[in-house]
Amino acid sequence: MITGSTRLAGVIGYPARYSLSPALHNAAYVAMNQDIVYVALPVVNDIRTAVEAVRAFDMVGVSVTVPHKAAVIPYLDEISPVASKLNSVNTIVNRNGRLEGYSTDGTGFIEALSVAEFTVEASRCVVIGAGGAARAVVAALGEAEAGDIAILNRTVGKAEQTADIAARARVGGVDDIASADLVINTTPVGMGDTSNETPIDTSAISSRHLVVDIIYHPIRTALLQQAKSRGARIMNGLPMLVHQAALQIEIWTGQKPPIDTMFAALESDS
Ligand code: ATR
Repeated sequence: MITGSTRLAGVIGYPARYSLSPALHNAAYVAMNQDIVYVALPVVNDIRTAVEAVRAFDMVGVSVTVPHKAAVIPYLDEISPVASKLNSVNTIVNRNGRLEGYSTDGTGFIEALSVAEFTVEASRCVVIGAGGAARAVVAALGEAEAGDIAILNRTVGKAEQTADIAARARVGGVDDIASADLVINTTPVGMGDTSNETPIDTSAISSRHLVVDIIYHPIRTALLQQAKSRGARIMNGLPMLVHQAALQIEIWTGQKPPIDTMFAALESDS
C-alpha cells in the first residue's frame, strides 16, 4: 500500500509510456517488502530539472533510458568508471542528496549470459552494431575476459571507435562468424519495419553458437528464428533487461531482488 513514507523511484526517458521497467521494478519491490513505488517519468528536454527533482523529492533514484543516458551526466555528483568510459548512465542513486551514476547494461548482459551457462572467459565473440548498446556489451565482454571480440558494423569508423573500448576488441568481418562462440545483435534490425530482416547472413550459424539478440519486441526476431533452425542456442533481450534492472535494485536497496518474480511480471504485463 502507498503511504506517507513510501519512496519514489522511476525511469527518465522519452517516450516512457511503453517501458517495461515499472512492471519489473514494482513486482520486485512488492516481493522484497520494499516501500518503494516506481513510475515512468517522461522527460523530453529539461534534463537538469528532472535530475534535480531526484534530490528535491528525496527519490530512491531513477533509471535513465533513451535518449538521456549521456545528457544526465553533467548534473551528477559522481559517476562510476564504467559509466565514465561509456559516457552513459542508466542508473542514478540518491545517497542523502548526493547523486551517483552507474551503467548496469553491460553487467546485466554478462549476468544474463551466466544464467544461460555461457562462459565468457576466453570465448570468441561477434558483436553486430557499434552504438551505445554495443559499447556497453563490448566493455563488459572485455571486463569478463572474452578471448576475442570482433565488431561488425555498417559504418566501419564507428566499429573502430567501439573497438577502442576493450583491449581484445577489433573491427571484424563476416568471416569471423563461423568460428565464434557467441554472436550478439545490438542493432535495431529485426524490429518494426525490419521485422523480416536479419542484421547478418545467418548461413554461418550452427550448433556451436549462442546467438543473442538484445531486441525483445518481437520476442523472437528473424535472426533468432533462423539461428534456432540452424541448431544454435538463442536468447532474446529480456534476460538482459531483467538483469540490468535487478542490478539497479541492488544498488538502490542493497538487496538482490527475486529474478523469477521479475520474469513473471513481464509475462503478465505482455
Ligand atoms: P543504441 O545506442 O541503442 O545502441 P544507436 O547508437 O543508434 O543505438 O546504434 C545503432 C547501431 O545499429 C549502429 O551501429 C548502427 O549502424 P551505423 O553505425 O552504421 O549507423 C546500427 N544500425 C542501425 N540500423 C541499421 C541497419 N538498418 N542496418 C545495419 N545496421 C544498422
